[in-house]
Amino acid sequence: MVHWTNFLPLLGGIFSSVVVAAEISAQVVPGAYIVELEDNHDSASFYSTLGNTDVSVKHRMKLDYTLFKGTSFQLKNVSDVDAAAKRIANMAMVKQMWPVRVFKVPTVDVIWKGSDKGMAESALQKRQSANTSDTFSTHVMTQVDKLRAEGVTGQGVKIAVIDTGVDYNHPALGGCFGSGCLVSYGTDLVGDNYDGFNTPVPDPDPHDSCEGHGTHVSGIIAAQANPFGFTGAAPGVTLGAYRVFGCGGSAGNDVLIAAYNEAYEDGSDIITASIGGASGWTEDPWAVAVQRIVEAGVPCTVSAGNDGAEGIFYASTAANGKKVTAIASVDNTQSPMVLLNASYATSNSSTENFGWTEGSPNTWENVSLPLWAVNYNVNDTANGCDPYPDSTPDLSGYIVLIRRGSCTFVQKATNAAAKGAKYILFYNNVPGLISVSAAVTGIQGVGMVTAEQGAEWITLLAGGATVTVNIIDPASSPKYVTSEVNTASGGFLSTYTSWGPTWEVDVKPQLAAPGGLILSTYPLALGGYAVISGTSMACPLTAAVYALVAKVRGTFDPATIENLLSATSNPNLFHDGATAYPYLAPVAQQGSGLIQAYDAAHATTLLSVSSLSFNDTDHFIETTNFTIRNLGSEEVTYSLSNVVAATAYTLDPASIHPSVFPNELVPGSASLAFSEDKVTVPAGGLVAVTVSPTAPAGLEASRLPVYSGYIALNGTNGDSLSLPYLGVKGSLHDATVLDADFTYLTKSTDNDLNPVPANQTFTIPATNGTAPNGTVYPAFVISLALGSSLIRADVVPQNPLANATTVLGARTLGNVFGFPARYMPRGGWATEWDGTLEDGSYAPAGTYTLLIRALKIFGDASVKEEYETTSTVPFTIRYQ
Ligand SMILES: *[C@@H]1O[C@H](CO)[C@@H](O)[C@H](O)[C@H]1NC(C)=O
Ligand SMILES: *[C@@H]1O[C@H](CO)[C@@H](O)[C@H](O)[C@H]1NC(C)=O
Ligand SMILES: *[C@@H]1O[C@H](CO)[C@@H](O)[C@H](O)[C@H]1NC(C)=O
Ligand SMILES: *[C@@H]1O[C@H](CO)[C@@H](O)[C@H](O)[C@H]1NC(C)=O
Ligand SMILES: *[C@@H]1O[C@H](CO)[C@@H](O)[C@H](O)[C@H]1NC(C)=O
Ligand SMILES: *[C@@H]1O[C@H](CO)[C@@H](O)[C@H](O)[C@H]1NC(C)=O
Ligand SMILES: *[C@@H]1O[C@H](CO)[C@@H](O)[C@H](O)[C@H]1NC(C)=O
Ligand SMILES: *[C@@H]1O[C@H](CO)[C@@H](O)[C@H](O)[C@H]1NC(C)=O
Ligand SMILES: *[C@@H]1O[C@H](CO)[C@@H](O)[C@H](O)[C@H]1NC(C)=O
Ligand SMILES: *[C@@H]1O[C@H](CO)[C@@H](O)[C@H](O)[C@H]1NC(C)=O
Repeated sequence: MVHWTNFLPLLGGIFSSVVVAAEISAQVVPGAYIVELEDNHDSASFYSTLGNTDVSVKHRMKLDYTLFKGTSFQLKNVSDVDAAAKRIANMAMVKQMWPVRVFKVPTVDVIWKGSDKGMAESALQKRQSANTSDTFSTHVMTQVDKLRAEGVTGQGVKIAVIDTGVDYNHPALGGCFGSGCLVSYGTDLVGDNYDGFNTPVPDPDPHDSCEGHGTHVSGIIAAQANPFGFTGAAPGVTLGAYRVFGCGGSAGNDVLIAAYNEAYEDGSDIITASIGGASGWTEDPWAVAVQRIVEAGVPCTVSAGNDGAEGIFYASTAANGKKVTAIASVDNTQSPMVLLNASYATSNSSTENFGWTEGSPNTWENVSLPLWAVNYNVNDTANGCDPYPDSTPDLSGYIVLIRRGSCTFVQKATNAAAKGAKYILFYNNVPGLISVSAAVTGIQGVGMVTAEQGAEWITLLAGGATVTVNIIDPASSPKYVTSEVNTASGGFLSTYTSWGPTWEVDVKPQLAAPGGLILSTYPLALGGYAVISGTSMACPLTAAVYALVAKVRGTFDPATIENLLSATSNPNLFHDGATAYPYLAPVAQQGSGLIQAYDAAHATTLLSVSSLSFNDTDHFIETTNFTIRNLGSEEVTYSLSNVVAATAYTLDPASIHPSVFPNELVPGSASLAFSEDKVTVPAGGLVAVTVSPTAPAGLEASRLPVYSGYIALNGTNGDSLSLPYLGVKGSLHDATVLDADFTYLTKSTDNDLNPVPANQTFTIPATNGTAPNGTVYPAFVISLALGSSLIRADVVPQNPLANATTVLGARTLGNVFGFPARYMPRGGWATEWDGTLEDGSYAPAGTYTLLIRALKIFGDASVKEEYETTSTVPFTIRYQ
């Protein structure tokens, strides 16, 4: 049996700075497979044919769909799992077979969650009046407000959300499930106990009973008016909820393929999923399944992924599928905050209100005490980090006011508690507010106020005033929504947004939308509302915009809407999380840039593509073309120009490994020659433009610079469009994919994955034996500097008389069970080997090396020279 272990946490230790700590986030379920069947077959005929053999399987998911006919199953008999798998793969009715992989619930940053209890009445009333203008910042950023002002709500459009389910009991999400409800259709494909590895237990109820992710996503699309004063971007749509995660688990790609096809067959107009895992291969089965649905006319938006830290070339599946619309994230221009209302008074003034955020511990119970501060310096960078002076009074009768910064909240709280403090209000040293945690003996309540509020109080204290703060128990305190301008990163690409392109230079992502700092609905049991950041939040907003644009234009054609949104988007400057730079962010990070719903809905110019890839140097596209259609009633002349974005080096200098974020960015992009620089298109007419790029000069091609930019089309009718393009200078084929130095033999019991020296003997259980505790199996680590579509692990006998065959020029007993591995992203993983071979038999006792071969990008799998190769040290296996 094989164990696929993600050794990300260990990489740091072993590889230190050598290797980017990339992870294989999609794990394989041992013995579980998806088959796609030939026409005229379905899962029933598959299982009945199988019933006549001695292969025993447990059914997982029926995949009897118009666009995907097949099934998934778990092989029951672990002792001959691979032989059985091979026999199934060879059945005449089986077209394709893939291992089941699982994807985790996306890791998003939950900034705040809570309830609407105590929400200010004013907000409640404001939202009740019909047709109040939409001022929700993410809607203003994307021009959703302008479409809403025209009365466009996506009325009647069916959007399927593939996620953790939806808490449809939420009053802002309709309060019910089924016909006539906001969440009008969908299903639970898995059940609460599904974890990705066990068998799904479907039921018809897609309630989001434990996670929350899908409820937040759904509110971004369709939330109805609520006490927080926002709505979803398309509150007129009806939602389909397809639940693919149980509680706390992962989702298999068989479940995801089933969910997509059910959503398609249930008549969804648009399907969205904020789910993914590192890949970069359009051939991934889930990506292929989604591509087919797009080709059948239903737009599919998928979040680009939250792995921006990994740098360029880290596209995620299924977003990386051909024709699938991958959505990048931009940070909100506003930082929404939900504050508790409290008041303070000075000796000689009236009472004033202020807002604060509760922290942990949280036992405030209507506290009314004067403030005390260790000093009155609002610029103190390490306020309260040292023990307080002997002159400090007994602080049990005060609320201690401490500035954030330098040392931990716990250290600050410990120093205050040493002088008897029970309550602490921190004041921030950056914009916004967070929920502070400082569990320290003696401290009953902590909270935070803004930097401005802290400064105001310090000024009063410094002036000799007594400032008495009255705090109402947070459990019953009134609260209100406010927001601060996000001066740090508003409108720029979120640093966490994953970068494309794919390994075959398909442009990814396509579009960008606000995903950082988003207020939306949350399950009632978890408070009801939350502020969350992730591409998971950008994706549903884009799906909602698809609905609005589709309603205005009267078409759901995926290419038409994607091309319109791409051409009308606003690209932005590169921002590294702290600072903006004077050049556009690469297309590999932002795609088209921030979508503009109104411009897309009303544009009278239609381009035939959403982006152009010039491929790499080996496959350089010398000339390509696109068309401009003028839907207006007057002739328009478009001036074409080339607006360059920063070029990003993929590899660190003199390294086979990609750089982590931010990749080194350099000026210099392609120059583009157009068939004409001014293109006149008659009313209702169509004109083709050819584009002949010249890759930028003077770059280190061996480091795989990715250049990009936008073809700007400025029309005499005032239209200003931009078409993203991207290319790679250098040869992806010649780039090193296998990190041979970190591909080696280890042992299954070593969590640190240290290499083992040559000539070790492993005594392992016999074919049908049970492994006693502490059995040490041989194991091996494979490290990929770049993605590889095919990785072999050949068992090479050292005995010249062994019955080996020759595969691709090497003597082998066959692959280790579970190999060849296909369509792997960059990163590393470890595999344990119990002696089972690819064909299900066991390798005889003997001495072996494992020959690891990774196919180069664009390599021909049938040619041995197209693989990069390394061998483990020899080792011996004996059976007990
Ligand atoms: C596994 O396969 C063997 C040989 O085909 C058979 O004897 C055994 O009963 C099977 N075990 C299970 C659990 O199916
Ligand atoms: C809202 O505004 C739109 C567009 O101006 C209008 O068609 C619609 O009737 C208005 N709805 C209400 C309830 O006033
Ligand atoms: C704190 O810093 C700000 C900005 O640098 C400055 O304007 C202010 O005078 C400083 N205040 C004190 C008390 O040093
Ligand atoms: C780049 O060229 C290769 C080889 O022809 C091809 O397989 C790949 O699809 C091309 N990429 C794009 C985006 O066209
Ligand atoms: C446009 O490009 C396509 C291939 O991408 C080619 O088949 C077609 O002939 C080209 N058309 C023009 C007008 O160059
Ligand atoms: C088109 O507009 C863009 C953006 O305003 C500008 O950068 C570019 O120079 C313009 N191109 C032409 C040819 O006017
Ligand atoms: C391992 O065994 C082989 C064959 O006996 C021998 O040639 C080699 O030197 C050994 N390697 C080590 C490191 O002991
Ligand atoms: C266990 O394996 C041994 C050797 O591979 C074989 O002789 C024996 O019949 C097997 N026993 C069972 C119960 O399958
Ligand atoms: C093996 O280890 C597991 C977990 O530590 C323990 O529960 C089990 O009793 C052990 N079995 C034997 C045979 O020692
Ligand atoms: C090779 O296979 C033959 C026939 O199955 C067998 O008799 C022989 O022992 C095998 N040789 C080795 C070295 O395993």
